[in-house]
Amino acid sequence: MTVQTLRANEQTSVVEDVRGYLAAQEKKTLLRFLTCGSVDDGKSTLIGRLLYDTKLIFEDQLATLEKDSRKHGTNGADVDFALLVDGLEAEREQGITIDVAYRFFATPKRKFIVADTPGHEQYTRNMATGASTADLAIVLVDARRGILKQTRRHSIIASLLGIRHIVLAVNKIDLVGFSPDVFSQIIADYRDFAVGLGFSSVVAIPLSARHGDNVITRSKRTPWYAGPSLLEHLETIVVDGRDNDRPFRFPVQYVNRPNLDFRGFAGTVASGSVAAGDEIVVANSGRSSRIKRIVTLAGDLPVAVAGQAVTLVLEDELDVSRGNILAAPDARPHVADQFAAKLVWFDERPLSPGRSYILRTATDQASAAVSALKARVEIHDLGETEASSLLMNEVGLVEISTQTPIAFDSFHDNRATGAFVLIDRLTNATVAAGMIQNPLRRAENIHWHAIEIDRQARAAQKQQRAKVLWFTGLSGSGKSTIANLIDKKLNSTGRHTFVLDGDNLRHGLNRDLGFTQTDRAENIRRVAEVAKLMADAGLIVLVSFISPFRAERQMARELIGDEEFVEIFVDTPFEECAARDPKGLYKRALAGEIRDFTGVDSPYESPEIADIHLATLGKTPEELVEQVEIWLREKDVASEQYDSGGGI
Ligand code: ADX
Repeated sequence: MTVQTLRANEQTSVVEDVRGYLAAQEKKTLLRFLTCGSVDDGKSTLIGRLLYDTKLIFEDQLATLEKDSRKHGTNGADVDFALLVDGLEAEREQGITIDVAYRFFATPKRKFIVADTPGHEQYTRNMATGASTADLAIVLVDARRGILKQTRRHSIIASLLGIRHIVLAVNKIDLVGFSPDVFSQIIADYRDFAVGLGFSSVVAIPLSARHGDNVITRSKRTPWYAGPSLLEHLETIVVDGRDNDRPFRFPVQYVNRPNLDFRGFAGTVASGSVAAGDEIVVANSGRSSRIKRIVTLAGDLPVAVAGQAVTLVLEDELDVSRGNILAAPDARPHVADQFAAKLVWFDERPLSPGRSYILRTATDQASAAVSALKARVEIHDLGETEASSLLMNEVGLVEISTQTPIAFDSFHDNRATGAFVLIDRLTNATVAAGMIQNPLRRAENIHWHAIEIDRQARAAQKQQRAKVLWFTGLSGSGKSTIANLIDKKLNSTGRHTFVLDGDNLRHGLNRDLGFTQTDRAENIRRVAEVAKLMADAGLIVLVSFISPFRAERQMARELIGDEEFVEIFVDTPFEECAARDPKGLYKRALAGEIRDFTGVDSPYESPEIADIHLATLGKTPEELVEQVEIWLREKDVASEQYDSGGGI
């Protein structure tokens, strides 16, 4: 029997190992569970105890453990079980677990995958990672401390992530003199709180992970407790809702095309089953075909079921790409670009509605924003309150909009195709985990109309190429002055242009917006949409907005198109802008009369690499205009048709 430790950042290898492990032990049922609780509740000790007492540790691991216990242990001469589980040296030194460790083990009755997740407040993210695939959660409670904020938070996250079975492990029962009253009180407190969480079973067990009471066998020291030991419970609990009974879903991981004669779609059946000859649809396009072959390394299969990794070959040549979902035609996923969801916020910086993130589902990804924060879910009573932002570890009800439609199910129906994460564009950090509730009706009945004359055709008619010259920089840096001069030049050479200026749009289209981070994100979203429409009309658009955040400028680039979008950084130092102070705003902002002023009490994130960098100090506007002209001309020298005349 093996015990293996893997870290969450080795996701792929985890998946591979899990698969290998599953294949090897096909016949026994599998229980996936995780442990959660506050720091010091004894999670690692409990898992260590489970593995140790069921003799699931290799001899050499045991020797290391005994050696390490003497070196780092906190239990004197005893074996420190937490050391068995807390893999990283760094964690040992900090004395807390900081990552998700997956362990596989088996008893004669059942096999198990356990995600050991940390209890430290800021590590909720890891807990959610572990919970997303688990059937059951062991919520550890220190008998001396009872139900804590963390206990509630972890239970809510477990519930959100679709876990239906809870073991309330009341640990350190020896330290309260094996008191049945303490035990009953904790159960009562937990039941009161957990009523609304929709768990199908909550089993409370009095334990001492350190001494082994009620872990493997029932303890003589809790004669008043008539229930099972932890291991007995884990070995016998029936977890419902097996993925095989749900409609067929197959997120395409990649298109396998080794030669011209073979084209297959590789992935893992997320739910349901599929047989050769079955009809399927590509959820994203609505196109249908039939399964011709189900290919595996070990030969073709007649049927593939949830959890199996296969390559599907279709009868027809359909346009299917990575991220598409193949599905049962009579029970299709939703395809939409707006939906309602529950969100657990992980980032230290609060959620800012309107901000652009990368949304990632099982296989697909899209640019996305939280278009509305409907409510915050309170941890103490699960009530919903109005909120304008979510802080780290808070849970909210939100509406999400994506730039391109994605295929999904509601999380309630399918955990694999109903979950997503939000990723910060700049730091690449996962800032939230989300559970989709339903597509929004307003998106449901709106379709794209194909317009036959495209951007290129409209631009060609104007003898130019569509472009969006996006000027970013501090207020007073000279954006509008330079944009204006370029506009005049282009116009005089017969180009068709338009200027979108921050101050001007704020008098009309954006008059309802202020200068908070959320309002600025919305300001940029709107101008990016307008600029895109104008570029679609074949125009050369000059956008002059402070646009202080990289994430939104990146969003604009993606929306408008990399070809057309030209980021121009008008780089004038803060001191110079404040000295020029053309509108007297710096003076007032520095005196505290204007709030959220860029460069004073609101940040400006300068471009990492702008397409054109205009260092303005010591240069005349004309010189700067020339720098832009030269760049544009150089870029467009390659343009065969339209390079005469105006440089674009
Ligand atoms: S952005 O940050 O949302 O891109 P935008 O370019 O539309 O800003 O508007 C900036 C203009 O609004 C500035 O040039 C200035 O004239 C004016 N303004 C008024 N209040 C502020 C403020 N708090 N911060 C920045 N600019 C402000």
